[in-house]
Amino acid sequence: MQRRPRRNRKSEAVRHMVEETSLSVKDLIFPLFLIDGNQKKVEVKSMPGIYRFSIDLMLREIESCLKLGIRAFDVFPAYPEELKDPLATESYNPETFYLKALREIKKQFPEVCLMSDVAMDPYSSDGHDGIVKDGKILNDETLEVLGRMSLAQADAGVDIIGPSDMMDGRVGFIRDLLDDHGFIDTSIMSYTAKYASAFYGPFRDALDSAPKFGDKKTYQMDYSNSKEALIEADLDVEEGADFLMVKPALSYLDIIKLLNDNYPVPIAAYNVSGEYSMVKASAANGWIDSERAMLEILTSIKRAGAKVILTYFAKEYAELIK
Ligand code: PBG
Repeated sequence: MQRRPRRNRKSEAVRHMVEETSLSVKDLIFPLFLIDGNQKKVEVKSMPGIYRFSIDLMLREIESCLKLGIRAFDVFPAYPEELKDPLATESYNPETFYLKALREIKKQFPEVCLMSDVAMDPYSSDGHDGIVKDGKILNDETLEVLGRMSLAQADAGVDIIGPSDMMDGRVGFIRDLLDDHGFIDTSIMSYTAKYASAFYGPFRDALDSAPKFGDKKTYQMDYSNSKEALIEADLDVEEGADFLMVKPALSYLDIIKLLNDNYPVPIAAYNVSGEYSMVKASAANGWIDSERAMLEILTSIKRAGAKVILTYFAKEYAELIK
């Protein structure tokens, strides 16, 4: 035997030397859940270790993450039922707690890379990402709402707008609107290939944002398909997206690779709530080592071609490697 692949695995020093993929806190975006009020920190039942924070405590959380080297955050708001309506009007009310919180975060920590979410679901009494009429999701009418929401978030100072709604044409629509209003430096990380997934369950618990009827299959993608991801990516790149995101991550490593092989923009992957909760639930039963599973999962997402990973493990990872 002339070729013995095991020689390159013989010691930690050799293994480190030949390691092709290395993860860094620089790659990570930490999603945070915001609730209205003061002095509130409530654990999400289906996501052990993940909390819904009021803005005062969220600022402290961001401060402690910055000390660990995490610089990028994606803030999602949880709205009470009484502020929701069919047109998600609360989403662009300049006095709404989400926009005030985004403003406050940028004021206190101008160095953070702050990302926001654009979709109607947290503010919609129907729990859908678009306007509902006669049981259908209206695409073009929804763009108007997404546009207002994006402008309000850009005005609050966010660095990256994250359209997660999957309406057709929204990246170009938002890009034009931002540019027309002078927000030429506000980036767009498009949820390019967002699949209709069972793995969003815990997130919808965290935000009380589950659809009130039906599912999201007329706008989110079918997990049987990969070619559609190329169509979505073509459009998003053409329409000015700065990052293309694949979501979820683990069942879609092939899609991450497909987009990374074909497009010159950075690829992001969202290691979603259900992927986090699966690890935590089995670790709680003593069936899996959560730390090792986390490292393997995050590294494999990066190996597949994601430069940026949105993950609920961000803080735990940063603490571990500290
Ligand atoms: C809302 C949105 C969702 C997620 C991010 N933005 C849920 C959904 O589309 O129903 C899911 C994130 C996660 O599960 O961690 N448009």
